[in-house]
Amino acid sequence: MPNSINYDVLIIGSGGAGLSLALRLAEQTNNIAVLSKFALTSSSTYYAQGGISAVFDEGDSLESHIDDTLDAGADLCDTDIVRLTVSHGKSSIEWLLQQGVVFTEEQNQAGEVQLHLNREGGHSHRRIVHSADATGKAVSLSLIQRAKEHKKITLLEDHSVVELITHTQDTASQKQVIGAYVLDANSSHVKTIKAKIVVLATGGANMAYIYSTNPHSSTGDGIALAWRAGCRVSNMEFMQFHPTCLYHPEARNFLISEALRGEGGKLVLADGSSFMHKFDPRGELAPRDIVARAIDHEMKKRGIECVYLDISHKPAEFIIEHFPTIYKQCLEFDIDITKQPIPVVPAAHYTCGGVITDNYARTDIENLYAIGEVACTGLHGANRMASNSLLECLVFAERASEDILKKLPLIQTTCTIPDWDESQVIDSDEEVVVSHNWNEIRHFMWDYVGIVRTNKRLTRALNRVELLKKEINDYYGNFRVTSDLLELRNLVIVAELIIRCALQRKESRGLHYTLDYPETDNTKPPSNTILKPYSH
Ligand code: FAD
Ligand code: SIN
Repeated sequence: MPNSINYDVLIIGSGGAGLSLALRLAEQTNNIAVLSKFALTSSSTYYAQGGISAVFDEGDSLESHIDDTLDAGADLCDTDIVRLTVSHGKSSIEWLLQQGVVFTEEQNQAGEVQLHLNREGGHSHRRIVHSADATGKAVSLSLIQRAKEHKKITLLEDHSVVELITHTQDTASQKQVIGAYVLDANSSHVKTIKAKIVVLATGGANMAYIYSTNPHSSTGDGIALAWRAGCRVSNMEFMQFHPTCLYHPEARNFLISEALRGEGGKLVLADGSSFMHKFDPRGELAPRDIVARAIDHEMKKRGIECVYLDISHKPAEFIIEHFPTIYKQCLEFDIDITKQPIPVVPAAHYTCGGVITDNYARTDIENLYAIGEVACTGLHGANRMASNSLLECLVFAERASEDILKKLPLIQTTCTIPDWDESQVIDSDEEVVVSHNWNEIRHFMWDYVGIVRTNKRLTRALNRVELLKKEINDYYGNFRVTSDLLELRNLVIVAELIIRCALQRKESRGLHYTLDYPETDNTKPPSNTILKPYSH
């Protein structure tokens, strides 16, 4: 007899998107599970620094936030989605305050306490609500605490989704999701989870690159799961490289927030000379694609390993008060940011593309939703503006909850799901294949599908990825699944999707820059790159 567990809603991911959805649904739904493939805090959300964009300043306006977002997105944002998202900024912050998140405050001139607002690249006003320089930690810990207190929410750590389970009633009906096979890393057992609604909240795919600001969990699993299940995927060529990741042999993945530049931090070369003014009149506060490309240009032209971000001209107390986490972390590597410049390099940071969703976070498959970084809503276009991502997580969690609550009572679940079949596989005898392939993908993605691309480099990467995909699929067919193998199988798919999208775009736009087509094509209306699933 099949042995499945039943939930009304299965949410895959315990970052800002997944947890805020769970908390919103728990007000009216009984039976919600939230999965996290590692610890609950292993998410990009936990590591977010700068903050969450929302219009609070009197001199600011929704129109201005919309215009800045559209401008950063290089004419590829969906204006309706931008308006929808931005107009929920204030209420999303208020919701977080109700969940117990503590944001940094200040006193205004009239002596009233108000939220302190940071400034970041692309924003024409101060509009970033934050908790010093560890906003994500404050958000994540509060939401986890709330979710733990809720009896209707089951939190399952160390649970990785292997595959979504779908069902089609007959040839005339739409494909539906009915659950997922899930590896419990503690027991190494693959469970069958049945659910009326499944939500992908799995974050981005930035671990496809060897240098990334992201935690280990960002392997694009949700994008690969949705793709294999039959969803369309869009705009994967727009991988965002954050300009300033700490450059130190012992530090991996440590971000130096854009908020440092918002407070006057200057990008300089080793001799102290600045260079950003040569690339954009907004200098250090130009949108991210421009700053990252400028740094890459200087590094390649001069053959240098890093550039520097210098905020040491500001008073030490100011720096320590505003950037306590960055100050402490750098000091551990003997870099005193109050006295010396910080060595920095660009690193893969954010996935602008993803699973195509509508304005209620619905995907192409019935009862399957995607929220947060895994989704491509149309908000970010060809380049996400700083601090719009956490906002998107919160807004689309709310939108999805509205739709799910209407839909749940109408869903009947009748079909039986067979258990995961392991009778034809054995334990792996060559784990080295997994780690070797993992490294190979991440290296060639960095070298050939990075900040500056060419057709030749992309084609070279595609050849490699096709060979690896075959090898990894053979391995998957023969050996018992492990968490590492599942990630590798997903990573090779997202790498392929990034390369295929990049090859399709015959122009440079936003984050996609190619030497073969260095200009933006203004001869026709801008369009999204859409990949439709074929037989894989
Ligand atoms: P995540 O927070 O990444 O959560 C994904 C979850 O899915 C994790 O729990 C993971 O374990 C789980 N998961 C993944 N795959 C599986 C699977 N197969 N099975 C089960 N579970 C799975 N954005 C801003 O707006 N402002 C900022 O200041 C900011 N700073 C940032 C700083 C850093 C260092 C980084 C890395 C990102 C930053 N971003 C920022 C981007 C932002 O943090 C992310 O886009 C956002 O947090 C994504 O949230 P999410 O819920 O979609 O995904
Ligand atoms: C940062 O603090 O620089 C990250 C902000 C973001 O990615 O939105």
